[in-house]
Amino acid sequence: MDNLKVVILAAGQGTRMKSEVPKVLHRVLDKTMVGYVIEASKEAGAKEICVVVGHQSAMVKNTIKDMYDNIVFAVQKEQLGTGHAVMQAGDFIKDGNILVLCGDTPLITAETIGKLCDAHEQQKNSVTVVSMLADDPTGYGRIIRENDGFSRIVEQKDATPEQAKVKEVNTGVYIFKADALNSAFEKLGNNNSQGEYYLTDTLEIIKNDGGRVGIMTAEDDREFMGVNSKLHLSQAIAAMRERINTRLMLDGVTITDPANTYIGKDVKIGADTIIYPGCMLEGRTTIGKSCIIGPNTRMTSSTVDDCVTVQMSVLIDAKVKSFTTVGPFAYLRPNSEVGEHCRIGDFVEIKNSAIDDGTKVSHLTYVGDSDVGKCVNFGCGTVTVNYDGKNKYRCKIGDGVFIGCNTNLVAPVEVGDRAYTAAGSTITKNVPEDSLAIARNRQENKLGWRKKVNK
Ligand code: UD1
Ligand code: CA
Repeated sequence: MDNLKVVILAAGQGTRMKSEVPKVLHRVLDKTMVGYVIEASKEAGAKEICVVVGHQSAMVKNTIKDMYDNIVFAVQKEQLGTGHAVMQAGDFIKDGNILVLCGDTPLITAETIGKLCDAHEQQKNSVTVVSMLADDPTGYGRIIRENDGFSRIVEQKDATPEQAKVKEVNTGVYIFKADALNSAFEKLGNNNSQGEYYLTDTLEIIKNDGGRVGIMTAEDDREFMGVNSKLHLSQAIAAMRERINTRLMLDGVTITDPANTYIGKDVKIGADTIIYPGCMLEGRTTIGKSCIIGPNTRMTSSTVDDCVTVQMSVLIDAKVKSFTTVGPFAYLRPNSEVGEHCRIGDFVEIKNSAIDDGTKVSHLTYVGDSDVGKCVNFGCGTVTVNYDGKNKYRCKIGDGVFIGCNTNLVAPVEVGDRAYTAAGSTITKNVPEDSLAIARNRQENKLGWRKKVNK
């Protein structure tokens, strides 16, 4: 659909969340609820999106602006109902086809939006509403049909006992022709039990004015699950997790325990990679083919090439090349780049450093603000001393260097190619290539000392 415009309702407080965070900013896995709704709209081809904000509007607006371009905002100062909320979009809804979505239904898909647009166009409707059949319709607006077509939507609080029994309910997703919507707004009142301007009433107005009202019954009602409490949030997370993990498994990723594996929507994973339980893979993380990830690994916006093993480790904005192993218990902090065939072992922390191919940092080592060459061996307990309390400095370590155990490298300092440092050294001066640096006191043995001091 060419002229698809989307209005996303996100002004409500969400009292039942019992939270200081606005409802639509709560996260399902690694993404805000309203973020999923925006992305589904874009994937369905919407060029223009307007988010109606109200409660804590600045926070909602800023969070969305940081994540997405080309979103416009309308402010609804007082929450006078869903119809009133859409009206606040003003000029945005003056033309085109207006799709209305809620910011608290993160499971809606682009496919469903696409089907709704198609049905709306093919049937030449003035408005098309998505309905679903609910085992328990409590809380939803009931779709009242007459002569097999649309009659009206009755809210739970306004329903007669007879109407309340109807199981076909309003999902809160509709698409309107702009002129039909605007004409209906001119007649919309708030004479109902909640004193609100109901968007749902515009459908009856449109019908009475001679417009066609279509109903598209949803195939998968989970897509329209509205999140109103932390309990609902956990259910939405479970549904999203299942959806994402299913897609990955069908694409050839092995997930040994999908119920205990939390992977974000934008994460990419190659075939034959195995993900063990307890992993959280988030943001723009990309994992290659035939890797082994986990158990219990967290990766945020990190890139791992093919045939990498990462177990029980945390990677944040880090890059790891092929055939390298990481962990157990390693921590790769932002701007860490590890080459091919490396080994980053237990209790190793790496930050803002480049480590070239074939290097081994096997245990209990901190590498910060450093450029490390190829095939370097770090002895256990090496520390790059990169911070003097005010400024940070870099260490440069050449190819084939052997760093002895318990070496301190006090930056700024350079160790030349193929050089050695003796165990226990505190290196404060550059080490020329092919040499050995010893920077510790020579051992002295005081023979018979115990007897002399009468111990
Ligand atoms: C609404 C529908 C109901 C439908 C249900 C589906 C109306 C009158 N009722 O009821 O038929 O079954 O959704 O979930 O539309 N909002 C605003 N400003 C307001 C009021 C609401 O932005 O003044 C936003 C809320 O933040 C929320 C959405 O609109 O994202 C829906 O509002 P909510 O109060 O949850 O409507 P329901 O009572 O669930
Ligand atoms: Ca709701």
